[in-house]
Amino acid sequence: MAKNTAEFVVIANRLPVDRVVAPDGTTTWRTSPGGLVTALEPVMRREGGAWIGWHGAPDEDLKPFEHGGLQLEPVPLSESEVVEYYEGFSNGTLWPLYHDVIAPPSFHREWWETYVRVNRRFAERAAAVAAPDAVVWVQDYQLQLVPAMLRELRPDLRIGFFLHIPFPPTELFQQLPWRKEILEGLLGADLVGFQQNGAAQNFIRLVRQRVGHKTHRDAVYLPDGRVVMARAYPISIDAAGFEEMARRPEVIARAAEIRESLGSPKVLVLGIDRLDYTKGLRQRIRAFGELITDGAVHVDDAVFVQVATPSRERVQQYKLLRDDIDRLVGRLNGDVGRIGQQPVTYLHASYPREEMAAFYRAADVMVVTPLRDGMNLVAKEYVACRYDDRGSLVLSEFAGAAAELKAAYQVNPYDINGMKAALLEAIKAGPKEQSRRMKSLRKQVMENDIDLWANGFLSDLNAEPTTHTKRTRPVE
Ligand code: G6P
Repeated sequence: MAKNTAEFVVIANRLPVDRVVAPDGTTTWRTSPGGLVTALEPVMRREGGAWIGWHGAPDEDLKPFEHGGLQLEPVPLSESEVVEYYEGFSNGTLWPLYHDVIAPPSFHREWWETYVRVNRRFAERAAAVAAPDAVVWVQDYQLQLVPAMLRELRPDLRIGFFLHIPFPPTELFQQLPWRKEILEGLLGADLVGFQQNGAAQNFIRLVRQRVGHKTHRDAVYLPDGRVVMARAYPISIDAAGFEEMARRPEVIARAAEIRESLGSPKVLVLGIDRLDYTKGLRQRIRAFGELITDGAVHVDDAVFVQVATPSRERVQQYKLLRDDIDRLVGRLNGDVGRIGQQPVTYLHASYPREEMAAFYRAADVMVVTPLRDGMNLVAKEYVACRYDDRGSLVLSEFAGAAAELKAAYQVNPYDINGMKAALLEAIKAGPKEQSRRMKSLRKQVMENDIDLWANGFLSDLNAEPTTHTKRTRPVE
């Protein structure tokens, strides 16, 4: 066992920071992309403990280190593991399969073998880092085999698993040649958490059908006497932290500067996403473009800023998407732009959180229109930053957040006319209507923050019984 063991351990594919090496060879650390890190970082700061993950670069074996008060345990990946485990099985097979096959998933046996090998490496590291009887919390689709592997190595641990992305309908999940192995991997946990109730129920049904275990409501009864619970825990953000950031004078000043540099438009429409085909960027740009070309919105009155954070750039589908968006934005700006007046400002870059908060403060309309999304924390971040009760949120029905954020303008992103109508309504909303909706959204987001989520999951993880007797087992 390692010298520095921890009572609480998080395992995620990524560490909360990526190592960035500048051309002059100096190294800095940058917050890793995506909602998982946004959500979990404040939890770890509160709980303490170790975070096991990859630091974002291939072929480097770093020693454990401390960063911003967190104990980080880097797991190395070779170049070919990045290709086969991360870009391949995680993001070329599981990601599209779990997101309604929006892009076709690829199934390759070599990718699967590497996924198994890398999952084992993460499990072994956790087994070495966890103190006796520690709580270990495994995160997301990249590490679905870790719970069972870890249980074999360390049966003393309490093991939780949380899936940040959707869990697919049973019909789609069945496509996976390794469906049984994945289900068995997850069943190594005491508690398996999902974003939505429907996802937890999909999982339970699949376990019954494909693995043959008995189930009852949210419980799976294993032949060895263990009980595995599967439940929904809709994730959130550090809402107070975002609000505090949005209130800083320098963020307010920066928000004003952003509006000014865009020509002080009447309406600023904003999208912020990882550049990912699940996010519905094409449909959104088309809808906004048509509002301009139809004449419903005048090019002098509204600008659309789309921030697209670079992501998984070597994966084919992401390369195609990038070209597609470049073309779409270029064509629209070419067709209806004027000198000094472009309808779409497209930024292919990642920004620090303060800059995001300034964007949120500056935006009159926030458009979050994924084709499928486990939760979508950008929607919640926007709401948390609008302590002034202003601004409108246009939100896809297919984001997990739609179940909670009922006061948003909800849209079906496949329905371009419907999106245009909702966008127009949001663009035209007066201060009273904005405030009515935003107050209701804020009540939801500020009350259901990340602490509530983490406490809910961790107290269930610590409370559930691990065994069943003949008496508590459901009748055959
Ligand atoms: C989503 C996933 C995370 C992932 C993040 C960023 O939020 O649920 O597991 O870390 O995207 O993606 P990346 O591939 O850059 O880690």
